[in-house]
Amino acid sequence: MEESGKVSLDLCFGTTCFVMGASKLQEIESLIPPQYRDKVEVKAHTCLDLCKNATYMKAPFVKVDGEIISEATVEKVLKAIESKING
Ligand code: FES
Repeated sequence: MEESGKVSLDLCFGTTCFVMGASKLQEIESLIPPQYRDKVEVKAHTCLDLCKNATYMKAPFVKVDGEIISEATVEKVLKAIESKING
């Protein structure tokens, strides 16, 4: 959790992640269920430095409270946010 008590959501829109599907994650902030929206701190990045060493994991990458999600989809990310908030 962030110091603010919020779950941090780090999105990557670097070239690798973008071409691998991060473009579909651009809307994610508006897709966070209303009851969770003010509990999530969203940040966009130009590279999370995960694509360079991604032997076993695939872009696009997202971090939810520091936990790396590879091959991130809207569904995966929303699920991770929900489970972080609900413990
Ligand atoms: S472009 Fe996304 S981790 Fe590098």
